Amino acid sequence: MTASRQEQRAQQQEQQEQRAGSGAGERAAGPRTALVTGATSGLGRALALALHRSGWTVLAHGRDRGRLARLAAEAGDSRLVTLTADLASLAEVRSLAERTAARGGPLHVLVNNAAVGFGPPGAGRETSADGHELRMAVNYLAPTLLARLLLPLLAASAPARVVAVGSVGQVPFAVGDLAFAHGYRGVEAYRRSKLALAAGTFDLAEAARPLGVTVNCVHPAGFMDTPMVRESGVAPLSTVADGLRAVLPLVTDPAFADTTGTFFRGTEPGRALDLAYDPRFRRDLAAATDRALRAHMCGSEASDTRTDGSTTDE
Ligand SMILES: NC(=O)c1ccc[n+]([C@@H]2O[C@H](COP(=O)([O-])OP(=O)(O)OC[C@H]3O[C@@H](n4cnc5c(N)ncnc54)[C@H](OP(=O)(O)O)[C@@H]3O)[C@@H](O)[C@H]2O)c1
Repeated sequence: MTASRQEQRAQQQEQQEQRAGSGAGERAAGPRTALVTGATSGLGRALALALHRSGWTVLAHGRDRGRLARLAAEAGDSRLVTLTADLASLAEVRSLAERTAARGGPLHVLVNNAAVGFGPPGAGRETSADGHELRMAVNYLAPTLLARLLLPLLAASAPARVVAVGSVGQVPFAVGDLAFAHGYRGVEAYRRSKLALAAGTFDLAEAARPLGVTVNCVHPAGFMDTPMVRESGVAPLSTVADGLRAVLPLVTDPAFADTTGTFFRGTEPGRALDLAYDPRFRRDLAAATDRALRAHMCGSEASDTRTDGSTTDE
């Protein structure tokens, strides 16, 4: 990249961050708080620091205490709070939601960014602490549970937003084969989880609309230069700054205050895989998801909001 192009990009990022901190809606609403998952690396780290620089309070999630400590040191003040949880455990996802709610402050935006990539070429199937296929667990079940558990807090802080960091890399699958028991490939497992995330986004958007919470899914950029891409052996095609340009406005820009249930390809509204809009696929996926998450929703006072918006005490 030439120096002038770099300067132009730096200038664009600065303008974006100024908008992040000074939108009319934000001024009226006072200080804003966001929870960013996977804030220890790549896009999540860049987003957490950009929001912090813009004056936001950032709840930065990670699974590695050392990496979180380095992030906190870089932010340099108490407006960046770190929260540890392994999203491959639904009990830890629930604990993350409980610790977030227990802070007592508002939550204006949840950014479900953390994910497991394709893995190294040829790597075998892995499972989560709960026995689910790992990529479906971390990339779909965990963000879905986190969003459901935090929906009451987001609603109490409304106007609020959920931004799911998805991918255009999606492949169809049978909901009955959520476990991907046969013919496993890491790249396909990742792409199944991103289809599920997009489909789930549309359901959650419908449930959250009456609560003043918007829910969107965004493909940040193709093959950004991050650890998950490098691990998979794919040559990076874009930068974290490219991804940040797509995601940051969905978190902060007042222009998106009323946009919900939309899949973004980079900075532009686009379409997820057709199956993500298929009512039968969505219904079957929601039912399988409810079954997988039920044990972790029960008894939580911040929880029990199903995708159809109903609540339960069970
Ligand atoms: N890179 C791309 O080209 C690309 C393209 C489309 C979409 N995306 C999406 O963009 C998002 C960010 O990806 P990235 O490229 O920035 O990836 P990255 O740099 O590899 O970061 C992934 C983040 O997720 C965290 N994470 C992974 N497994 C976890 C677990 N079990 N529990 C808790 N945290 C976990 C990682 O923690 P550690 O730091 O501890 O590893 C890290 O913070 C993801 O949703 C990804 O699918 C990326």
